[in-house]
Amino acid sequence: MLSHIVAVIPLFAGSYGAYLEQRQATTSSSSTSVPQYFQTTPEIYAGPTPTGRAPFLAQSNPAPFGTSRSFIANAPLETALPIAGDTTNSSIFHLMGQLSPYFPNPSGFGVNEYPLPPGANITLVNTLHRHGSRYPTTNASAEKFGKTLTGLIHAHTVNFTGALSFLNTWSYQLGDEILVPVGRQELFDSGVLHYYDYGHLYNTSTKIIARTTTQDRMLKSAEYFMAGFFGLEWTNNATLEVIIEQPYFNDTLAGYFQCNNSNLPVATGGTNASIIWEKEYLQNATARFNAITSGIEWNTSTVYAFQTLCPYETVAFGYSAICDLFTYQEWEGFEYSIDLSFAGNNYFQSPTGKAVGIGYVQEFLARIQNHVLTTGGTQANLTLDGNPSTFPTNQTLYFDFSHDTNMAAILTAFNLTQFAPTLPTNEIDTGRSLIVSHLQPFGARVDIEIIKTPKPVCASRSEAHYEEGEPTTYIHFIINQACLRFKLPFLP
Ligand SMILES: *[C@@H]1O[C@H](CO)[C@@H](O)[C@H](O)[C@H]1NC(C)=O
Ligand SMILES: *[C@@H]1O[C@H](CO)[C@@H](O)[C@H](O)[C@H]1NC(C)=O
Ligand SMILES: *[C@@H]1O[C@H](CO)[C@@H](O)[C@H](O)[C@H]1NC(C)=O
Ligand SMILES: *[C@@H]1O[C@H](CO)[C@@H](O)[C@H](O)[C@H]1NC(C)=O
Ligand SMILES: *[C@@H]1O[C@H](CO)[C@@H](O)[C@H](O)[C@H]1NC(C)=O
Ligand SMILES: *[C@@H]1O[C@H](CO)[C@@H](O)[C@H](O)[C@H]1NC(C)=O
Ligand SMILES: *[C@@H]1O[C@H](CO)[C@@H](O)[C@H](O)[C@H]1NC(C)=O
Ligand SMILES: *[C@@H]1O[C@H](CO)[C@@H](O)[C@H](O)[C@H]1NC(C)=O
Ligand SMILES: *[C@@H]1O[C@H](CO)[C@@H](O)[C@H](O)[C@H]1NC(C)=O
Ligand SMILES: *[C@@H]1O[C@H](CO)[C@@H](O)[C@H](O)[C@H]1NC(C)=O
Ligand SMILES: *[C@@H]1O[C@H](CO)[C@@H](O)[C@H](O)[C@H]1NC(C)=O
Ligand SMILES: *[C@@H]1O[C@H](CO)[C@@H](O)[C@H](O)[C@H]1NC(C)=O
Repeated sequence: MLSHIVAVIPLFAGSYGAYLEQRQATTSSSSTSVPQYFQTTPEIYAGPTPTGRAPFLAQSNPAPFGTSRSFIANAPLETALPIAGDTTNSSIFHLMGQLSPYFPNPSGFGVNEYPLPPGANITLVNTLHRHGSRYPTTNASAEKFGKTLTGLIHAHTVNFTGALSFLNTWSYQLGDEILVPVGRQELFDSGVLHYYDYGHLYNTSTKIIARTTTQDRMLKSAEYFMAGFFGLEWTNNATLEVIIEQPYFNDTLAGYFQCNNSNLPVATGGTNASIIWEKEYLQNATARFNAITSGIEWNTSTVYAFQTLCPYETVAFGYSAICDLFTYQEWEGFEYSIDLSFAGNNYFQSPTGKAVGIGYVQEFLARIQNHVLTTGGTQANLTLDGNPSTFPTNQTLYFDFSHDTNMAAILTAFNLTQFAPTLPTNEIDTGRSLIVSHLQPFGARVDIEIIKTPKPVCASRSEAHYEEGEPTTYIHFIINQACLRFKLPFLP
């Protein structure tokens, strides 16, 4: 079996290496110093262990995916909040853009959902996955505001009454960057779901390579996913390739670090648009808060940072008292502020969106055409991508882990023009396709399936399955369990 073990990419820092060695030591050796009753591997008295056939739900599911499904959602958090103006019992946690905990796309992307036609085979799946729910970014506005507010509260320079009274004893207690518990669960659950969908594509006598980045939440997201997909002994089945995520390193899973302009004001048009909209939709809330606050004056910018703490506190603590201070309409406004931000910073209105994402598109095309990547000029790390031991092209399952904005840039580089229309900043465009909570919530996933059919599939699926013609290969895009319209100029 050792011949299947591919060397893990050497890393620049020692801490990760030590971590990995430890993990390998616990999974591959039976230390005699550990008493039997504390020993977990190798197992003894494990009982019978035969397994059944690997599922292939993505191919065998007779039902369409789509809306009005009855499904079992694992929802451990007590978040059944009374939200003013929520007349339809809708969840505000589905209106939080990239800060929404994972939920399947509720409305589809304007495409009818059908099962695979008979005789069609899924031959490959390429999954691009976001990390799970996390703490805020170090020193971003949410954290800065939270710490400033805490300082004012402790200094008694501010007092609150009414709905804001709880703030008199509130303090900012979030960490930075790393996964929170539900974030681990999102990735584990997704691994489980992906096994149901695609387990059949895994050849049990091989070991696949899956890619993530060096960031703690990225590495751990990949590990939780693998544990969900393969089980706790996943290191027998997959090797994680951990690509350096640091400024000026080439990494298609964090492409902005190789695109200087994407980190300059030229690429913040979305942020600017969002600020214009925040001033509009948060006027009422700002007035409400000022009426019950003494010592400071709220403005739309501080109210926005405060609203942003609701999703972060919720996933960190299970409940946040900040959420129901805002009306349903103000949560719709919050979602739209994030949609504007992504549209201008990462999707089609961004001058650097496609540039950040194009390296991953190159990698995807290379994989499905079974060759390593040798032409550069993008974020791809050709040292890794030019070598089949670090860029294998013989897998039927590819798992990559990335970030929200990077995934948005990749979808833009794939030229998914349904997300291209410019959004107005003075009112919500209710007909838009670009809804970030449907695209890049925590734990988001883009599954790209290669499907081979015996004949061309009918454009109108309501009648016959196939037209007359030759065997045909299709690419099927699925984002967060909903099908996407997609046209690629060429196929393998
Ligand atoms: C919302 O939920 C409440 C309590 O379950 C129920 O009485 C009410 O009919 C629901 N309203 C709608 C519009 O579904
Ligand atoms: C965050 O801000 C603090 C205080 O301004 C600073 O000391 C620290 O280096 C910053 N951290 C990062 C990661 O930027
Ligand atoms: C599974 O992998 C083994 C070892 O590489 C190979 O011999 C076998 O043909 C593969 N099976 C299938 C169905 O691809
Ligand atoms: C993982 O690999 C082991 C050892 O090759 C194999 O026995 C097991 O079935 C694999 N797990 C899955 C979920 O296929
Ligand atoms: C490419 O990846 C290798 C292995 O991690 C690393 O040593 C090298 O610095 C990377 N090159 C660039 C340009 O990022
Ligand atoms: C990006 O910025 C770094 C640091 O200033 C610089 O070394 C590098 O040459 C720049 N890259 C490009 C393509 O301009
Ligand atoms: C603000 O309040 C006015 C008056 O009640 C209302 O018409 C408007 O819809 C509210 N706007 C938002 C964004 O809540
Ligand atoms: C806040 O309340 C405290 C205690 O009642 C009082 O001493 C302080 O002056 C108040 N501060 C403001 C800004 O109202
Ligand atoms: C890294 O990216 C730069 C700029 O896109 C490219 O010129 C260079 O060849 C790449 N380096 C590697 C090792 O892939
Ligand atoms: C791909 O090919 C390499 C080298 O021959 C082999 O070690 C590996 O097991 C193969 N992977 C799969 C998934 O077949
Ligand atoms: C992107 O799609 C649009 C609309 O289909 C098309 O006009 C344009 O040429 C495409 N761009 C690229 C780079 O393929
Ligand atoms: C689908 O797979 C079956 C079983 O391996 C094979 O007989 C059939 O030819 C395949 N169909 C296509 C369209 O590739």
